[in-house]
Amino acid sequence: MREDLTNRRKVEHIEIALSDDIDLSNNCRWFDFVRLIHNALPDSSFEETQLNWSFLGYELEAPLLIEGMTGGHEASLKINEALARAAQSERVAIGVGSQRAALKDYSVVGTYRVVREIARDVPVIANLGISHILGEEGVDNAKAAVDMIDADAIAIHLNPLQELIQPEGDRNFSDSLISLRDLVRELDVPVLVKEVGSGISYELSLTLKRIGIEYVDVAGQGGTSWALIEGKRAPSDSIEREASIRFSEWGIPTPISIIEASSSGLTVIGSGGVRSGLDAAKCIALGAEAAGAARPFFKAAIESGADGVSRKIRSFKFEMKLATFLTGSSTPDQLRLRRAYILLEPLLSMLRIRGRFLYI
Ligand SMILES: Cc1cc2nc3c(=O)[nH]c(=O)nc-3n(C[C@H](O)[C@H](O)[C@H](O)COP(=O)(O)O)c2cc1C
Repeated sequence: MREDLTNRRKVEHIEIALSDDIDLSNNCRWFDFVRLIHNALPDSSFEETQLNWSFLGYELEAPLLIEGMTGGHEASLKINEALARAAQSERVAIGVGSQRAALKDYSVVGTYRVVREIARDVPVIANLGISHILGEEGVDNAKAAVDMIDADAIAIHLNPLQELIQPEGDRNFSDSLISLRDLVRELDVPVLVKEVGSGISYELSLTLKRIGIEYVDVAGQGGTSWALIEGKRAPSDSIEREASIRFSEWGIPTPISIIEASSSGLTVIGSGGVRSGLDAAKCIALGAEAAGAARPFFKAAIESGADGVSRKIRSFKFEMKLATFLTGSSTPDQLRLRRAYILLEPLLSMLRIRGRFLYI
């Protein structure tokens, strides 16, 4: 495999993403400011509580997504293999990391393909950054990414903060919206738009809906911070390192982003700092159809392989089921429709101020 800049960056990302100080959920957990309302008389059987999720033509055991993370390097082959084994055995959806590396270097295609080969009975989601779909080759790049792994959908990640802190990152995002619109028209699979840790607003959700996007994965602020990860790659005396710390908490807190995006009528995956099944249930109560997590599964894959990831998913499922049952709901749809939650400060004021302008 060619050891080029993209590959080296991937390895550095893996190493840095393992350190706890890039995970904002270790300092401030927005989900602690969301409380679900207890129902002391759940009039059903816990065993009958169903988490099943129909997504992209598959019947899954829970509304859960292993967020797109890796691929493109030998180090990521083992990680993707472990994540895919767990997704297949626990029947949850899975994404791959940015496929840019494989568009440039065919020898790394196998590090992504392994996910489809193992996770045969669950949705597999391709991944490219917005800058990889700009220009004349944009649609072809996206088609190649989908075909490469026989994907059921493609996620296009929006990561302007990360690119701007990254010394070699992209600087020009002109024509992004037109390119996304063209992609929706040209591809045979759904196009899902995701952030990577700064969230998606109500206004952007409406814009995306207008061009035909149906799914957004909010990846809000409160989990993995890509500003901090890129800052650690930058020289210690650089202005990028300094800015990375100042902008580490930039973005829309995940619970607020879920409420905003789902208010636009889009189907929402709630992610960004989701660290447990209880957090995942809160995403659904706030309006998401499903929840996604990256770093918890990534750490489990590296520390204990597929078994560790499976255990983590089972723990998520159990807590999601508990929270669904204890709010008096028998399905995630009921949990969402009931809106059985309250927001504590500071989330409450944030939403009030946003709601005043947006009528949500
Ligand atoms: C190691 C790692 C690599 C990632 N690589 C990608 C990527 O290639 N493409 C992408 O869209 N998001 C990527 N992400 C972002 C995640 O998909 C997710 O949106 C974000 O980490 C927030 O979730 P978390 O707080 O649960 O980690 C990556 C995350 C991690 C932890």
